[in-house]
Amino acid sequence: MRPPEFFSEHNARHFWHPMAHPAEMQSHPPKVIASAEGVHVTDVDGHRVLDAVGGLWNVNLGFSNQAIKDAMRDQLERMPYYSAFRGTSNTAAVELSLILREWFEPDGLTRAFFSSGGSDAVETALRLARQYHRVRGQLDRTKFISLKQGYHGTHFGGASVNGNAKFRRNYEPMLPGCFHIPAPWTYRNPFDEQDPARLAELCAGLLDAEIRFQSPDTVAAFIMEPVLGAGGVIPPHESFMPMVREICNRHGVLLIADEVITAFGRTGAWTGSRLWGVQPDLMCTAKGITNGYFPFGATMISEKVAAAFEGNKDGFGAIGHGYTYSAHPVGAAAAIATLAETERLQVAENARHRGKELIAACRGMQDRQEIIGDVRGQGLMVCLELVSDRDNKTPMDKKRVDAIFEQAYADGVMIRVSGNNVILSPSLIVTDGNIRTIAETIEAAIRKTA
Ligand SMILES: Cc1ncc(COP(=O)(O)O)c(C=O)c1O
Repeated sequence: MRPPEFFSEHNARHFWHPMAHPAEMQSHPPKVIASAEGVHVTDVDGHRVLDAVGGLWNVNLGFSNQAIKDAMRDQLERMPYYSAFRGTSNTAAVELSLILREWFEPDGLTRAFFSSGGSDAVETALRLARQYHRVRGQLDRTKFISLKQGYHGTHFGGASVNGNAKFRRNYEPMLPGCFHIPAPWTYRNPFDEQDPARLAELCAGLLDAEIRFQSPDTVAAFIMEPVLGAGGVIPPHESFMPMVREICNRHGVLLIADEVITAFGRTGAWTGSRLWGVQPDLMCTAKGITNGYFPFGATMISEKVAAAFEGNKDGFGAIGHGYTYSAHPVGAAAAIATLAETERLQVAENARHRGKELIAACRGMQDRQEIIGDVRGQGLMVCLELVSDRDNKTPMDKKRVDAIFEQAYADGVMIRVSGNNVILSPSLIVTDGNIRTIAETIEAAIRKTA
């Protein structure tokens, strides 16, 4: 490897980082991570930290899973690539499709469409939703409804249903026909409603009203994350998604569950939809499907949607969508091994227990630290919302939030900051000791930066 000076000299000079201002990356260069082991990462200067971000909510099984690495290496040797476009397939993808069918059977999802990541998985779901209605002769059903604060990736379709201006503003105009309703977010909502069950009713009521306003025969799908992630970890009340399911059914609108983060155990259940007792029509998965070791996405399709396409006798059922890397054999091999390991390690259960510990530790911290306005979480998805004034919920300024990040890093824990939020999403194999380290280090960072 080149010496550390090489990396400081060239850091952020020749490539632009996602979700960052290029000038800021040059003036405040990012940490250059050089190696990783278990749930720890080490930078080029040899500084080792506990990764409380889990890569990017994706390295669910940690960085050292040998079974996945071996499976990828074997597949790479045997056949590094072949296309899955009409006429050819590959052994790993065929095997994976059966494993996914069994994995998602409780969610009522029986077919997969493969891609290279979460944004692709969302794009695929949005397209298939429109096409589903076309196949059934409902040509006007093209609109999408989604939640404010929702995050659905950065392709134009996904960005159009995203519920956060910062991912939209500079790229407008977005796709026409996309509408948003408020998220069931108790800390900040237009009704000033803090009772989660009542708020869920109000938001679900607005979905019903919006579908009626648009005219149901023009709405293709409603898309939501079972637990909102990047928008600041917003777990809805348990009644919300079942109400959404019922409203969608009533109006013939498809329900897309964006489970790019929540599939495969992170919420403490195997999927977020299962957590809430709901079967979606389409489900977007990615991230943890390969433990982050290979860019891979799978849009899962319900029997109802599959039947419409597979029973179609004219050109409407042909899928004019797909990627060179759809069903990539190395990604498929990584996913086969990841799913076996995910099950063997029973990470959903660990996520449930460790998540409760982490949330409890953060709530304790909130009692002592005035700047923690809110603590939200479900399983190993946790957010600390930082404020400069608790009564007015004034978002904490960037300088302090960045200082907390730097201090925690210096003291041995990598956290993620986004706006005024500290977002925690460690690997699902973390121990109770890791949880204590994360919480204590964050609290120390808050104190030291005061
Ligand atoms: C819910 C959700 N959907 C979609 C995406 C986009 O995935 P990707 O970054 O792999 O394109 C993300 C990424 O964090 C996500 O959290």
